[in-house]
Order: sequence, then structure tokens, then C-alpha cells
Amino acid sequence: VVRYLAWTATSTMFLWVLVLGVFVSRSECYFSEEKYPEESKMQPPTVVIAIIARNAAHSLPYYLGALERLNYPKARISVWAATDHNADNTTAVLREWLTVMQQFYHYVEWRPMEHPTSYPGEMGPKYWSNGRYEYLMKLKQAALNFAKTRWADYILYADTDNILTNPETLNLLIAENKSVVAPMLDSQGAYSNYWCGITPQGYYRRTAEYFPTRQRHRLGCYPVPMVHSTFLLDMRKTGMKKLAFHPPHLDYSWPFDDIIVFAFSCRVSEVQMYLCNKVRYGYLNVPAKPHHTIEDDSISFSHLILEATIDGPPMAPSKYVSLFPKQRDLMGFDEVYLINLRRRQDRRDRMLYSLNELEIDVKVVDAIDGGALNSSDIKILGVDILPGYYDPFSRRTLTKGEVGCFLSHYYIWKEMVDQQMDKALIFEDDVRFQANFKRRVLRLMEEVEMVELDWDIM
Ligand SMILES: *[C@@H]1O[C@H](CO)[C@@H](O)[C@H](O)[C@H]1NC(C)=O
Ligand SMILES: *[C@@H]1O[C@H](CO)[C@@H](O)[C@H](O)[C@H]1NC(C)=O
Ligand SMILES: *[C@@H]1O[C@H](CO)[C@@H](O)[C@H](O)[C@H]1NC(C)=O
Repeated sequence: VVRYLAWTATSTMFLWVLVLGVFVSRSECYFSEEKYPEESKMQPPTVVIAIIARNAAHSLPYYLGALERLNYPKARISVWAATDHNADNTTAVLREWLTVMQQFYHYVEWRPMEHPTSYPGEMGPKYWSNGRYEYLMKLKQAALNFAKTRWADYILYADTDNILTNPETLNLLIAENKSVVAPMLDSQGAYSNYWCGITPQGYYRRTAEYFPTRQRHRLGCYPVPMVHSTFLLDMRKTGMKKLAFHPPHLDYSWPFDDIIVFAFSCRVSEVQMYLCNKVRYGYLNVPAKPHHTIEDDSISFSHLILEATIDGPPMAPSKYVSLFPKQRDLMGFDEVYLINLRRRQDRRDRMLYSLNELEIDVKVVDAIDGGALNSSDIKILGVDILPGYYDPFSRRTLTKGEVGCFLSHYYIWKEMVDQQMDKALIFEDDVRFQANFKRRVLRLMEEVEMVELDWDIM
């Protein structure tokens, strides 16, 4: 064939026809009746997910729930999971999940360490001693070595209080084709898993780019000097050979902290870190201060769960982890009401989800739809607007919506009187809760009792 082609270059078109003729007649010779199959598709790249858990029993059900919902074939994923120095139920929760999930994943490597339950000289379960930093660096390195030995294409690191609510996160990160890439994670505040600046000593540096990125005023994938907590490494890129979490580089003089050690390693290996904020990928809990307890961390995580409902899909716990049933109550009130317009199911769902998380029992009442009221309806109800009333801020009289809202409350007050209730708590359906809401309200009510405050509406 090559010889024929060489001829055609210098010879006539007639020879082209001759060459093609040879091909066609040959294939017809072998496949005269059958259809031959097309070439089969490529399998997705292989991924290792590194799970390093410590004192994370409160967030693990949500973390693992998000991992199991990632839209990626589990047969192409290996899980490397380690846990150590726990003062809570982390080991049992992780073990329970892995026992069920190992049948779906390609391979599971399980490295639990039951004892000791803390590091020497630690000031609390969330305290970061140098011993903790060093041990964590070694764990991350062990996961990296595992991925190398197994010739995995990618390794995904994700801290156990990072909840990847977007099931496409892994696919989206792979599609960016970067050596090191992180999804920007949202939190209860300005905190996130990247820096836009770093000082010559390796500390965080404030920059003008941070907030526009964090608030998604600019969208894209940006080179940054630091990503941490959740990020994907492409093991096929040659720059990966030199990257290490431990031991720190010989020239390392920056703070002894696993994220800074790794950022330095990227820098000296000439591997650029990238941060993507194109869509919402998930959430991270603001890390606890050194003196904080597991309980403080758990309160802050509960708040994150509620905040995530504001503009994202709610976090859902794993189906394969047993949870204590919620203990809902009325917080000492005779009734707790939720006023909701029937046509605003989205708000009703969000509030019921949040109140369930807060373990508050609630009675939903249908709001009066102000928009559907006309003046004769209102007259029939015997309601009249106070003559001369003007809203002090907008300088207008009541809107129909406000009349509807008033009537909704009014009917609840009537029910309270009819049923001789002492006190009730009333929610509208667009509430955004503060951290620790339930305990704060309970404390407030105790104080009110103590000073015998004479109150009607609070
Ligand atoms: C610890 O976790 C296991 C597995 O999820 C569960 O069965 C057990 O009830 C938990 N114990 C406590 C004290 O939370
Ligand atoms: C991904 O990046 C590498 C360079 O690191 C490049 O060679 C390759 O063509 C890229 N792949 C795609 C699909 O863009
Ligand atoms: C007001 O609405 C009611 C139904 O809610 C209707 O029966 C009545 O005719 C309406 N009145 C006026 C003045 O539009």
C-alpha cells in the first residue's frame, strides 16, 4: 500500500482509484455480511480519594453522603482512608460506611489507629500541635505514595468538614486539566480554601482579588499561591514527580503547617495551583480555634448545614451511616407555628429542613395570600387600616401582602386565645438562623422568666 501511495504522488489519479479499490474489495472479502463493531469507548480515568478523619463524627455522615453521590463510576475510584487520635466516634462511623461501600469502589485501603486519643501536650481535641502537623503531612504523603504505586491518574484530597454538595465536582475539576486544582468552597463567612497572596515568609497576605473571587464577581479558574482542604492532583503530569507533603523541602523555612509545606513544594517544583469558582461546588466549616472543643466544632457545623440551604441544595447525610433520630420539641412553648404561603413550597421545605436540623417541632399554618384579597374581602373580615397610617420608612400605606401577613398572625393569636395558650413561637418562612439558635432562645426565655418580664410580643 505504501508503495502504491508513493506512486500516486508522482503518477496519475488512476492509481488512487486503484489503491482504494484494493482496500474496499479486501474488507468486503472478510465482512461481506456482518457489521463490524465500532471501537469501544475509553473508561474514565482512575481516581484515589484520600480521607483523613479526626474528631469528625458530627460532619462525617454529610461528608460521606456527598462523596457517595459524586457522579463518577465507583469502579474507577479507590478510597484511601485513615483515622487517628480520636476522642469521638469517628472510627466507628467511618468503619460502618467503608464496610458497605467497599463492594462498590475499586479498592479500599483502611488505616484506623484507635490509640492514643490525643497528642502529647495538646490543649484540646481541635488543637494543632507540631506533632499533629507532622503526622498529618505523613498521612497525606502516604496517600500520595499509594496513588503513585497504584498508577492512579488522579488523587482527590478532601477534608472531612468539606461537603461537596455538587455531584459534578470531580468531573468539573478533571475537565480543567490542571496539575493542582481546587474547587472554591463556600462557608458561613468570608473564609474559603485558597489564598490570593502569600508573604515572603509564607503567611497569608491580603489581596484585592480575594473578595471578588470569593463573592463570584469574577468567574473562572485562577492561578493562586495557595489552595488547601479540597484539591485534585493530576498524577500523570510530570511536575507531580517532585511534589511532596513530607518531608518538607530542604530549603523550607516557612511555618510548620501542612498546607504551607505543600504550597512551597508546588512552588519549588514549578507546579501552579489553580482555584475554580465557576459554580457552587460545596461548603467548608470554618476551622475551630485552638481552645475549641468538639462540641464547638459541631455547633459551627450545624450552622453551616443551615446556611447551605440559603442558596444551595441541602446537605444530606449518607444512607449507610446510622444517625441518632432527631429529638424535636417545642422549646417550652405551647405551640411553634410556621406561617407559609401554600404556593411557596420551596420556602416551606427549607424551613422544615432547618427546623428539623434544629430539633424544633412546628405546626405549619397556611398564610393568607394578600395578593388574592380584594377590598371587599377585607371589609367582610372586619379589618380596616388605621386611619392616617403610613409606613415610617417607605411613606406608603399597607400593601396587600402586608395585610395578608397581618391576618396570618392575627388568626394565630385567635387560636392562642381560643386554646388558652400562655406563649407561642411564630416563624415566618424566610428566616435565616444564627449559629446555636435553639440554645440562645432557650437561654433568653430563662432570663425573661428570671427577671419576671411582663411581655406580650418579643
Ligand atoms: C458510633 O457510630 C456507630 C456507627 O455509626 C453507631 O452504631 C453508634 O451508635 C455510635 N455511637 C455513639 C456513642 O455515637
Ligand atoms: C492537558 O494538559 C496537557 C499539558 O499538561 C496537554 O499536553 C494536553 O493536551 C491537555 N489535554 C487536553 C485534553 O486539553
Ligand atoms: C372579591 O373576591 C371575591 C372572591 O374572593 C369575589 O367573590 C368578589 O366578587 C370580589 N369582589 C370584587 C369587588 O372584585
